Amino acid sequence: MITRIMQGDIKYITADAMVVTMFEGEKKPIGVISEVDEALNGAIAQIISNGEFKAKVNEISVIHSLGKLPVRIVAVVGLGKRQEFGIDKIRNSTAEVCRLLRKLNCHKITLSPLSEVIENIKLVDLYEAYTEGSLLGLYIFDKYKKPDHTNVDELLLVSENTARLEDLGKAIDKGQIVARATNLARDMVNEPANNMTPSHIADIAKEIAGEQNLKIKVLDVEEMKSLGMGALLGVAKGSVEPPKMVVLTYQGDSNSSETIGFVGKGVTFDSGGISLKPSAGMDEMKDDMAGAAAVLAAISGIAQLRPKVNVIAVVPTVENLPSGTAFRPSDILKSMSGKTIEIISTDAEGRLILADALCYAIKNGASPLIDLATLTGACRVALGNGYAGAFCNNKNFMENINNAANKTGEHLWQLPLPEEYKEHNKSLIADIKNVGDKLAGAISAALFLGEFVDKKPWAHLDIAGVAASKVDNGYIVKGATGYGVRTLIELALSLAKKEN
Ligand code: BES
Ligand code: ZN
Ligand code: ZN
Repeated sequence: MITRIMQGDIKYITADAMVVTMFEGEKKPIGVISEVDEALNGAIAQIISNGEFKAKVNEISVIHSLGKLPVRIVAVVGLGKRQEFGIDKIRNSTAEVCRLLRKLNCHKITLSPLSEVIENIKLVDLYEAYTEGSLLGLYIFDKYKKPDHTNVDELLLVSENTARLEDLGKAIDKGQIVARATNLARDMVNEPANNMTPSHIADIAKEIAGEQNLKIKVLDVEEMKSLGMGALLGVAKGSVEPPKMVVLTYQGDSNSSETIGFVGKGVTFDSGGISLKPSAGMDEMKDDMAGAAAVLAAISGIAQLRPKVNVIAVVPTVENLPSGTAFRPSDILKSMSGKTIEIISTDAEGRLILADALCYAIKNGASPLIDLATLTGACRVALGNGYAGAFCNNKNFMENINNAANKTGEHLWQLPLPEEYKEHNKSLIADIKNVGDKLAGAISAALFLGEFVDKKPWAHLDIAGVAASKVDNGYIVKGATGYGVRTLIELALSLAKKEN
């Protein structure tokens, strides 16, 4: 699927379908759409006046042109009330209409982008959003299944305006890079755990490094032993799959000594280990490497966009299984930082591998750092499927992350890191234990990670609730969401030195 921009009159462009949009409450089409309506003998105005179509958010009406236009179908899409408009409405409605038109056997689609100036919304962001919406909404993971759908090959954004074609073309290119990176993360997470092993993650990282010209290092067990990564190695002991620590570096600003650290939890399957999870829903635990996938996909997108900034991505990846060699509750592990950790539950494994990864990232110059992890069921209970839990020890960095997330529409909600809750993680016999209190599980997990960041500016996104979806909803499709890829890319772009 490719998105392109074209200057011209949409009424004369041959395609399978044409998409036009309307705001709720507006009585009749305006501008180019009124001309399309005229060609259809007033069919659009009619579905509005007879109450058939109200232009509510994501509402779609399909009109057959029956030869009046060079398209089989005109799809009229609702954007909701003009006062409530935001860029995410474009991503979501484009995704919904593209999916519907795919079902209706459309391969080539033309779309008439909003051309009026909308307060606080830049035209380039709008074009990027059309591109992202289509690519993200049409995503399907059907590698292991006979395909039961046709493909949309092309979305053509047709504008009469000749000004800024170059800028808008660039916005489309960016949208394609960002959406394809998100879909790469989705592919990785949707892949079953028998294939998406730690070694396979390392191979994908090598491929990314080769394609995007990134520096790569993959630490094996021996190197991890010599670095003292006892926490990560402890988790890995139960599986025959060898653990890996993948490190990718993007250097976009060789004059700067600052490097942003991205750290992603890469548990390729989390059975819970000896503290075995209940079997119902355990299959979902192939998603437990969604943080790793997001971080790798993001750095691949960043490398293609080439901002003036340095990024290091650190991905600790292991499989958490029970066996005769597995680590067990009551074990004490010594982490790379030197801190000892008492194991209360082998199912609280994410914070263990992240402890060593954060420490490694900092030793390799990362500051500020952000980690993404499907860390706690508690975060999913607290915030549901719509918001990631965000934790941060630095106001300024949190503001940067919030701004990036607001731009991408990936919702997050900040939760506190209260000093007094640190009590929950205290152990009688080690420096810290890996499970806190019964209450506030997402917070004690975050506070645990905070013990390994050496006072560097750091943020943690608990993505347990948002990494996968059970429903198609706008540009979110069933299965992996690719959450975080777009926000990490946007964050890197916002922290980059602007070209002069
Ligand atoms: N991978 C899970 C967290 C998770 C749960 C992710 C649900 C996505 C959906 C994590 O390793 C885990 O098992 N956490 C435990 C921690 C507990 C033992 C302190 C949890 O949340 O129950
Ligand atoms: Zn677990
Ligand atoms: Zn886990």
